[in-house]
Amino acid sequence: MIYLDNASTTHTKPKSVTTNVIKALTKYSVNAGRGGYPLSIQAGNIVLDTRQDLSDFFGLGNPNNVIFTSSCTMAINLAIRGTMQKGGHIVATVFEHNSVLRTLDDIKTKFGIDYTLVEPNKHGDIDVNEIENAIKPNTYMVITIHASNVTGHTQDIYKIGNFVAKHNLIYMVDAAQSAGHIGIDVQAAHINLLTIAGHKGLYAPQGIGVLLINNVKVLPLLTGGTGTHSASTTQPTDTPEGLESGTLALPAIMGLSAGLNYVNHNFGTINKKIAYLTRYLIDELNKVPNVKVYSKYNDVGVVSFIIDNIPSSEIADQLFETHRICVRSGLQCAPQIHKYHGTLQQGMVRISISSFNTKQEIIMAITAIKELAKKLG
Ligand SMILES: Cc1ncc(COP(=O)(O)O)c(C=O)c1O
Repeated sequence: MIYLDNASTTHTKPKSVTTNVIKALTKYSVNAGRGGYPLSIQAGNIVLDTRQDLSDFFGLGNPNNVIFTSSCTMAINLAIRGTMQKGGHIVATVFEHNSVLRTLDDIKTKFGIDYTLVEPNKHGDIDVNEIENAIKPNTYMVITIHASNVTGHTQDIYKIGNFVAKHNLIYMVDAAQSAGHIGIDVQAAHINLLTIAGHKGLYAPQGIGVLLINNVKVLPLLTGGTGTHSASTTQPTDTPEGLESGTLALPAIMGLSAGLNYVNHNFGTINKKIAYLTRYLIDELNKVPNVKVYSKYNDVGVVSFIIDNIPSSEIADQLFETHRICVRSGLQCAPQIHKYHGTLQQGMVRISISSFNTKQEIIMAITAIKELAKKLG
């Protein structure tokens, strides 16, 4: 099998991730930090260290504002719903994933919070002038994806963040696809809410997301046990506990800790390789006459294409049946960017590369796509 669906979840994990997950299950199957006995205290310290590492890696400067969630979707929901301003307005982009789009739609229906989706310019960039045009008197928040999970195109979050800060609005960035691939400095980019998926470019197991909060008040979506202020009937307001009711997923957090450490120590090598394989794949696919490539060179390893007007699902099925190549087809949960590109019906075939993929695997994928393009064209 050749696994090229790493933007969904990275398949191969560094050994240290597996080791740490096993350690969590064998040694630390306790409630981290909630008990007064040594194992619980040690586990609690591991969680604290992981918060610190995440805070350092993303330039947050406050480990207490690193909130663990069950997924990036959950982090996005917490960020958007936890900062809602009734009767307000949000500016987002057509690149957004359904975890943002459906949340926006839901709060529009339930709380009358309207939103506007901004389209990119001809280079694929979200222009701050377009954001400015979309801002209304009741706008309180701007949301931009960092790297598109459909095309891999990356937005300039520093430029946008600077602009948003000047307007005194909340800036949220969905970094599900970019975390681990592209350096992000929350303070420098004036990001108030950064949402991260652990199981993609940070090589954690599934079941872990992170919300980084910077200089904005976030209300909890869940209430319950925090291990603090237990006599109080009301939810604590301090972070991280107030936003993390329930037992933490220690195996996933320890996996994330190891994954983050791996990325931190190998950042240059990992991402140079991904960028190289991405460029190579794009260049080769662009040579095939009836293949249309929607991705430009990018640092997140995403390459999407179609062959003539053949449904993307048919191509993905054939790639698996003939060559055991795993890719993603359809809309990749981001319908608006497909609407923008005119691929709502056909979808796109998405190849996504991890640092554990080899050039040989990419060559085999190119050969398979060329064969298919010839056969179907
Ligand atoms: C851009 C983007 N945002 C959010 C998500 C949601 O992440 P998760 O599935 O970890 O909740 C994804 C997942 O593919 C994504 O690509």
